[in-house]
Amino acid sequence: MRDRILLCLAHMSGKEMDFIKEAFDQNWVVPLGPNVNGFEKDLEDFVNRREGAAPLHKKVVALSAGTAAVHLALIACGVKAGDEVLVQSFTFCASSHPITYLGATPVFVDSERESWNMDPELLEEAIKDRIAKTGRKPKAIIPVALYGMPYRIDKIMEIANRYEIPVIEDGAEGFGSNFNGQALGTFGEYGVLSFNGNKMITTSGGGALVCPDADKAREILWYATQARESYPYYQHEAIGYNYRMSNICAGIGRGQMTIVDEHIAHHKHVQALYEEQLKDVAGITMHCNPGPEYDSNYWLCTATLDPDLRIKGQENAYKQVITGAVGGAAGVTHATSTAVTDCQPNDNVEALRMALDAANIESRPLWKPMHKQPVYKDAPAYVNGVSEALFKVGICLPAGPYVTDDDVRYITDAIKASIQR
Ligand SMILES: Cc1ncc(COP(=O)(O)O)c(C=O)c1O
Repeated sequence: MRDRILLCLAHMSGKEMDFIKEAFDQNWVVPLGPNVNGFEKDLEDFVNRREGAAPLHKKVVALSAGTAAVHLALIACGVKAGDEVLVQSFTFCASSHPITYLGATPVFVDSERESWNMDPELLEEAIKDRIAKTGRKPKAIIPVALYGMPYRIDKIMEIANRYEIPVIEDGAEGFGSNFNGQALGTFGEYGVLSFNGNKMITTSGGGALVCPDADKAREILWYATQARESYPYYQHEAIGYNYRMSNICAGIGRGQMTIVDEHIAHHKHVQALYEEQLKDVAGITMHCNPGPEYDSNYWLCTATLDPDLRIKGQENAYKQVITGAVGGAAGVTHATSTAVTDCQPNDNVEALRMALDAANIESRPLWKPMHKQPVYKDAPAYVNGVSEALFKVGICLPAGPYVTDDDVRYITDAIKASIQR
């Protein structure tokens, strides 16, 4: 049996150990140092470059996680207990959970069909309605680059600017994606990046915040290092966090930045192969850049299944209680006694997931929209049915640097073989 093909697994350049060794040799085994500075410089060069235009001047602060970056961006936007923040519903929980860390309320906004990301029309409707209902403007807007696909940032920025609400771009999955030749994370006030083990590049765990200027970056740095005042002893006048990236992790990041462009090119190549291999398969549609403005990194390749498509073994879907969990979290999840919830992917999607699993291929449903999560049952939501409908028909396919052309053929053959004719 061939090795299991995983959704996305980081690939080392070989240079990581040189940076890490340097950190040990110089005794910089702390959450600051030359690797952190060097990695931030590499990230700034990367996000600031633009096609056919002068580079931007954004500053980047390296942090312990993308989730930490969301949290600090919210603090920098002045989000406090009792405030509301507009956030894309179709996302991983890390986009919205930090809102609740602050005692604020997430207000979920559904997606538009083309990009699968925040619907600008619904966003404006939500802003107007929140102002009408609460007498206050939401404090921030968080669109999310789902699976790397850019959100409609031109329209979102136009609305955000008109209502003077800051945008925090959640580009955790969109590192290396562009809209009109400009990197995601550089349009809004702040941009979130993640370097978790399964992302476009990794620092094992880590993230960063793209900031508008040096002053704002300094403020984020201050919050990320326990908000210390400059006295000869520890004096605290605000609540801070221990969110700085370690110099060891940053060494991995510097090594990764030497191959980031190759990684992005590879993800796009894998997407093109899936499109080619599946183009004639009735009932399966790959999710692609919806227009020339969009340049997705294709962090994960995603497909949708017509509800009528019959997958072998479909009658056995959801018959067994799952003991593992998605995202490599087996062993750290609560045990459950039910195999179903009131909102889940269609039986054919689950049957395809099981068929691929049996062929040693990891796949996964799309993110379950936050407005359908029990933990957010009381949060306001502006919905049009798009994210829920996509959740029911969508599936994520392997896309990382380890996925070879042969693997894509193996995966697409397994998909074709699973269809009941
Ligand atoms: C959309 C989104 N936002 C935020 C995060 C948080 O990043 P991290 O895992 O580095 O905390 C992730 C990924 O994990 C993500 O997918």
